[in-house]
Amino acid sequence: AWTPSNIIDDQVAVIREKVGDRQVICGLSGGVDSAVAAALVHKAVGDQLTCVFVDHGLLRAGEAEQVENDYVAATGIRLKVVNAQDRFLSALAGVTDPETKRKIIGREFIRVFEAAAREVDTERHVEFLVQGTLYPDVVESGGGDGAANIKSHHNVGGLPDDLRFALVEPLRTLFKDEVRQLGLELGLPPEMVWRHPFPGPGLAIRIIGEVTADRLDLLREADLIAREELTAAGLDRDVWQFPVVLLADVRSVGVQGDGRTYGHPVVLRPVSSEDAMTADWSRLPYDLVGRISTRITNEVREVNRVVLDVTSKPPGTIEWE
Ligand code: XMP
Repeated sequence: AWTPSNIIDDQVAVIREKVGDRQVICGLSGGVDSAVAAALVHKAVGDQLTCVFVDHGLLRAGEAEQVENDYVAATGIRLKVVNAQDRFLSALAGVTDPETKRKIIGREFIRVFEAAAREVDTERHVEFLVQGTLYPDVVESGGGDGAANIKSHHNVGGLPDDLRFALVEPLRTLFKDEVRQLGLELGLPPEMVWRHPFPGPGLAIRIIGEVTADRLDLLREADLIAREELTAAGLDRDVWQFPVVLLADVRSVGVQGDGRTYGHPVVLRPVSSEDAMTADWSRLPYDLVGRISTRITNEVREVNRVVLDVTSKPPGTIEWE
């Protein structure tokens, strides 16, 4: 029978058989797939696994800490953290085109991950790379919680020849809901297990315009408010994803207290979906939308307007870029 603990036992046996006493590396993205894949491999081969977390500075509030603190505490995994925020910001300076942002982030990610992998390889002689590939990724690559899948979204196939690792993909036969059950069974932090899909390029493609440290801070605050209120309303599992988008290149006039403001709009983009290929805008309760709007305009400086995206996919995409 399919139970999370049966799957874990089976996979642990398969991984042990494949890896033996050799060394393994895994990139963590903050997403559920890589987190569960690494936890499974850790259960199988323990200290032979080293995880690498590239903090590109484009994650949401609390997500880097979740990986560095909560996840490590829950699993005991050895984690190498690379703080690459400045590097990504410099590389993105002046860039506004969405696909150019994606290319730059993908390229920088590979460079940083490769350098970290090389260091781990020098110390430990690594032979395997863990990937959080899911069954839907196997059937058709693209979409979904791509942040978790370094290979298809950041193209680790592009690692240089002297870093040729064999792949370990313990989630290849599983769907997302099954991976979540495994994660819970493995004792991972529930907030991580239930995290909504989040794109690899992160908040960079939710800032319409150039990505700067200030704009990232604004968007992080607005996004956190939307998430807090959604959670407080008990609706986390009723939406597929809830992007919050900063229209950094747009300004509109507002009024606050005695003064005129000239700030930026933020877009709420809650969607319902089965697989991200199609989606509908979520009919969130108006009271909830109102609370989010009031808090964002009160608490986030420079944001003076909140709008709700009521476009289905198609013709809209889930993300704005
Ligand atoms: P769209 O915006 O195309 O998004 O409707 C479909 C799903 O894919 C995610 N997405 C990405 N994931 N790298 C990723 O890893 C990307 O460049 C990217 N663009 C979109 C999006 O969040 C949604 O889940």
